[in-house]
Amino acid sequence: MYTRASHLMLMLLALMISACGGGGNSTHSTPTEEVPETPVEPSNPEPTDPEPTDPEPTDPEPTDPEPTDPEPTDPEPSDPLMVNGDFENGEVSPWVGNSGEVVLTNISSQSRSGGNSLQISGRTQNWQGALYGLTNRVVEDSTYHISAWVRMDNVASSNVSMTVKVSDGNGDNYLPLAQGTATDTGWIELAGNYTVATSGEVAEIAFYIEGPDAGVSYLIDDVTVTDINDDDLLRVDVEHLSALVEFPIGVAVPAGDAGNSVLNSPERQAIVEQHFSQITAENIMKPSYLQPSEGRFFFDDADALVAYANNNGMSVHGHALIWHFQIADWMANYSGDAQAWQQMLEAHVTEVASHFEGQLDSWDVVNEAFLDDGSYRNVDVGNDLGSVWYQNIGPQYIEYAFNAARAADADVDLYYNDYNISWNDTKLDAILTMAQDFLDRDIPISGIGFQMHVDKSGPGKAKIKQQFQKVVDLGLKVKITEVDLRMNADGRATTLTNQLLLQQKARYQEIVEAYIETVPPSLRGGISVWGIADPDTWIVPLYGNPDWPLMFDDQFQPKPALQGFANGLAVIP
Ligand code: XIL
Repeated sequence: MYTRASHLMLMLLALMISACGGGGNSTHSTPTEEVPETPVEPSNPEPTDPEPTDPEPTDPEPTDPEPTDPEPTDPEPSDPLMVNGDFENGEVSPWVGNSGEVVLTNISSQSRSGGNSLQISGRTQNWQGALYGLTNRVVEDSTYHISAWVRMDNVASSNVSMTVKVSDGNGDNYLPLAQGTATDTGWIELAGNYTVATSGEVAEIAFYIEGPDAGVSYLIDDVTVTDINDDDLLRVDVEHLSALVEFPIGVAVPAGDAGNSVLNSPERQAIVEQHFSQITAENIMKPSYLQPSEGRFFFDDADALVAYANNNGMSVHGHALIWHFQIADWMANYSGDAQAWQQMLEAHVTEVASHFEGQLDSWDVVNEAFLDDGSYRNVDVGNDLGSVWYQNIGPQYIEYAFNAARAADADVDLYYNDYNISWNDTKLDAILTMAQDFLDRDIPISGIGFQMHVDKSGPGKAKIKQQFQKVVDLGLKVKITEVDLRMNADGRATTLTNQLLLQQKARYQEIVEAYIETVPPSLRGGISVWGIADPDTWIVPLYGNPDWPLMFDDQFQPKPALQGFANGLAVIP
């Protein structure tokens, strides 16, 4: 997630920027670093052995009859991989206790997503738990990713683990797959890969969740089993992503002097023009670029980008009129009283919004004015950079910016934009208190922008829907403005595996589904991803780990994530 650590990095970026001479074009810090190769694992290598060229035998072979009914070597499994992994049907089956004492109950008082989960109680041994049979569901030699979410029920915390049980000619074998510490305040994921061994007759394959002491009960939800080499799951078959819906599907693009500028990159243009209906300038419409020195505005690069969008039938989302970051030195160091600061802010907003009047769909009017604890960004606190706007004007700077933007452009949608609000209630609630106050006092605001720089493991769909719903309840538009998915926050991955590709696909899908299922058509401001292809991502230079947060890979090929996004759009009723 975009957290304190990222602010530390932004701070470092800010230092680097000021070290290289301040505002204007010197703030071009679009990442151009190479990310490591991201090979896609071959799913089923064809045998390369040549046919044997043995000479015909001169002596006729003994005439043993050919077996008439050869045993199939790779029987197709007869049952679906996962049934009732989300417990939404209100039932327990096909889950069973791995011992007679275990009591399984489908409950609706707690769940990670949807309404239900499975409660495991009555346990008299620490190895007892809920078991799911895989015997007729899996195929020899295939590798499966098994994931389950766990929460404690009647104790504050406990170790839990996931175990695969294989019974064959050698007896019962128990393979530990994943371990973790679960609590009663949230859900943790246990996940691991299991490859079905080829040796011997297998009587039973199953997995179960175990570990807590006797008497302890716990909950599981959202259990999935995925064949990570399944070509069908990895396939991408999306012709024109944005053509699937009426609302904007956008992408942030590098432009101006950036080495990876979309305007100089045929492979990036191909992606943008094929799949997106809107663009956002990743950097070049921020204050430091548009007003590099006081009163001297520079619109050439932004105009070229807007012209590119127009020529290709795409709309433009403006980003960002007022932000505490990526402002030129003269602005950061401006001296004057509150009134002078207000005039300086209004002059910037008015000049920029007027310049683009009638050309943009929407603006991020103010970006990141709140902190995670719901307070206004003020002075530097820890890793959180302060805001010169708040320090010199007070909280009114936000409404001054919205008023000036509306005065300059009567029709453009005006967004307040921030990060972490897809999961942080305190922060979103503070922002919505401000938005409600704006509505009450007729300060023009059209919607809330959710940046959604999120992680592969959370927030979950149910939480995201709750947060969108709060905005919908105010009658404001919801726009996902900057989604990307960090796949390697813990730094353990060195290559982009099929497993990560499929996890990412599922995450893009659930985020898009959460949007479609919660935001009614009239309030859909659109969904934009923060970058075209993985080599462009800001995440790698920011955090340092290899990562692959976007929907196209370093060869500019579509990833399963694109299919997940499209599948999510398809839930439109
Ligand atoms: C980032 C860009 O992607 C980087 O190229 C730049 O160096 C720093 O800014 N939230 C925002 C975006 O609103 O403007 C940020 O973009 C990412 C976080």
